[in-house]
Amino acid sequence: MTLQPGSLAARDLDSMLHPQTHLAQHQKSGPMMLKHAEGVYMYDDQGNQYLEGLAGLWCTALGYGNEELARAAYEQMKELSYAQLFASKSHEVGIRLAEKIKEMVPLHKSKVFFGNSGSDANDTQIKLVWYYNNVLGRPEKKKIIGRLKGYHGITLASGSLTGLAPSHKGFDLPLAGGRFLHTDLPHHWRGAEPGESEADYATRLADNLEQLIQREGPETIAAFIAEPVMGAGGVITPPETYFDKVQTVLARHDILFIDDEVICGFGRTGQPFGADTYGIRPDSISLAKALTSAYQPLSAVVVKDEIYQAFLQASDEMGMFGHGYTYSGHPVACAVGLKTLEIYQRDRVFEHAAALAPQFQERLARFRDHPLVGEVRGVGLVGAVELVADKQAKTAFDPPGRVGAECLEHCHANGLICRAIGDVMAFCPPLVITSAQVDELFDKFERAMAATLAWAHGEGLLAA
Ligand SMILES: Cc1ncc(COP(=O)(O)O)c(C=O)c1O
Repeated sequence: MTLQPGSLAARDLDSMLHPQTHLAQHQKSGPMMLKHAEGVYMYDDQGNQYLEGLAGLWCTALGYGNEELARAAYEQMKELSYAQLFASKSHEVGIRLAEKIKEMVPLHKSKVFFGNSGSDANDTQIKLVWYYNNVLGRPEKKKIIGRLKGYHGITLASGSLTGLAPSHKGFDLPLAGGRFLHTDLPHHWRGAEPGESEADYATRLADNLEQLIQREGPETIAAFIAEPVMGAGGVITPPETYFDKVQTVLARHDILFIDDEVICGFGRTGQPFGADTYGIRPDSISLAKALTSAYQPLSAVVVKDEIYQAFLQASDEMGMFGHGYTYSGHPVACAVGLKTLEIYQRDRVFEHAAALAPQFQERLARFRDHPLVGEVRGVGLVGAVELVADKQAKTAFDPPGRVGAECLEHCHANGLICRAIGDVMAFCPPLVITSAQVDELFDKFERAMAATLAWAHGEGLLAA
């Protein structure tokens, strides 16, 4: 592809190191230049319209161009554009947002710590867990168990919790020291033995977790972290009874459950939180993304009261609680977060998403019979189809990702933005999508899949 010298696309190649992008391919294909967005639609610089099938990066729950959110930011900038929370300073909008979060989350008594991203929220989680065990006089209880294909962020520590190879490869992650462990990916369709039920598979995974804890020494394991539905790992919903069984193991060894609700939080799974959908009883929760519908970068870590009380009691001995960011509780982000949560409640956005979920899942399920599709999975308004070379044998394409990338091109050509995670096509539209737009999304995807199938046949990629 030749780019017009001086065009935005050419300047992009000259100026930017893109996050989570194949750099050589990007140099060849250039960027997709998005120009503006309204509601659930985005527009590129050629005026092409796209239905937003992934809510940005699983975050723009209220869609784009929301006047009330823009106004909340503007008004806050005029009133108090910045104020810190260090050294006992505070502000009303931060307090109101913390109160609102406390009222909503499935944690009885809690405290809220603000940050700026999902990654820093999970870094905070790690630091709080370490601090907690230090103040309790258990300095050896520090290891944290994540899961293969789990995604918890990309900073040095949260990236170490993440269980995805590209997040580690070349970056010397996970961090050395043996504090970051990974247990099984709970993906029944891929991981179960022939004939093994979801419940039996969940029992086996809980047994494996128990064995991992025993091997490492229960006195060394501080916490377990999980997304209720694994997002960036390919939209993997947990098998029946999985979280119940995992929680039984954790309780036996006094291991904290960190609930990463960065994608699942705020109505995505058909309930307010993924914890509500799957019966998770968290000790602490990470929130970001839909907390502000991505109108401002903001994250929150919510910890149960026992953790806060332990910090408080150790306060004289430890001195200052030495963690926090310049932008912890940024008033503009808090104002936008507060307005977002108000809109969720006022407009019954979670109920709207839950009411659309059956239609969304039914439209998704229709792809089950498609020759390219191995598995369809999802819950609420999040879902995925996994493309395979051999439907019966579940054989993945080799090399992985080529068919997904091709399918994504056809999605774009049909006016749909979604995400190819390798060969898994993921969907997570804004929660404010309408019923007609859900149909539009899957009609577009159907056309993209037909084109992908024709291409795959042409390339001889499907098993005979
Ligand atoms: C479950 C989960 N946790 C944490 C993160 C990291 O969030 P951020 O990209 O804001 O750092 C993500 C990002 O996709 C995520 O999906």
